Amino acid sequence: MKIFLDTADVDEIATVARWGILDGVTTNPTLFSKVGGSYDDILKRICDLTPGPVSAEVVAADADGMVEEGTHFATLAPNIVVKIPMSEPGLEAMSRLRADGIKTNCTLIFSANQGLLAAKAGASLLSPFVGRLDDINEDGMTVVRDLVAIVETHALETEVLAASIRHPRHMTEAALAGAHVATVPIGVLRKMIEHPLTTSGIEAFRRDWDAVQGAASAGSPTPPAARAPARKPPAAKRSAAKQPAKRTSKKPSRSARRR
Ligand code: G3P
Repeated sequence: MKIFLDTADVDEIATVARWGILDGVTTNPTLFSKVGGSYDDILKRICDLTPGPVSAEVVAADADGMVEEGTHFATLAPNIVVKIPMSEPGLEAMSRLRADGIKTNCTLIFSANQGLLAAKAGASLLSPFVGRLDDINEDGMTVVRDLVAIVETHALETEVLAASIRHPRHMTEAALAGAHVATVPIGVLRKMIEHPLTTSGIEAFRRDWDAVQGAASAGSPTPPAARAPARKPPAAKRSAAKQPAKRTSKKPSRSARRR
C-alpha cells in the first residue's frame, strides 16, 4: 500500500520524505487554508519534494471551470493529479481531462457506486472518505473494501485511495482491505511509529549500556558507536588477573615442622 501525506505543509512533507516512506501527497482547500500563501507556489514546492503524485483540488462548480483549473495545475509539474469532487460536472471534467492526458483523483466518495462511476469517467485515483463515514455511524472501510473488489473484479485502470484516515487502526484496516493507497496526516504516522514497549525497550538498552560504560558517561548524548571502545588491559595483566592470588608465605613442610 502506498502512503501519501494528507497536507499542504511543506515542512511536514520534507520530514516524511526524509523517513523514506513518502509515495505522494494530497491537498485540498481546507488543508491549503491552514498554510496560506500561493497555492501554485506551494504545489510546486511539494512537487519538488516528491516525485510521486501530488493532488491539487479544483474549487470551480462547473465542468468548464474544473477543466480550466485542472489544466492550469497540470502545467505546474509533471506529477500533479487534479482532484475533482464527485458530481455530474465532476464526472464530465474527469472524462475531459483524461482525454487531454491529465490524471485525476475523484474526491468526496462515500459509496462504492460513486467510485465505480468515477472509475468509468477515467479517474486514476478514487478517494473514499473513511473517517467522515465513521463520523455518521457508518462503516467507512466497507466502501474501501467494496471498491477494491470492484476494481479488481473488472480490472479497472484506477487505484483506491483510502482518505479521511483518522487513526492508526484505519491504516491497518485500509492495508488489509487491499487499498492501493492511503493518505494520512503526519500525526497518524507518528502514532504508527510509536509503541510504549519500543520506547521502554530503547530506554532499558541505553540504561544497561551506560551502566557497563561507567556512570560518568551516563546521560552522555554521544552514541555508543561513536565512543572509544572500552580499553582492555594488556595481555600479560589479563592472564595474571585470571590466576589465583599468589601465596606470600609458604606453609612449612612436614619435615621442617618436625625439626
Ligand atoms: O483526504 C481527505 C481528508 O483530508 C479529509 O480528512 O479528516 O477532514 O475527514 P478529514
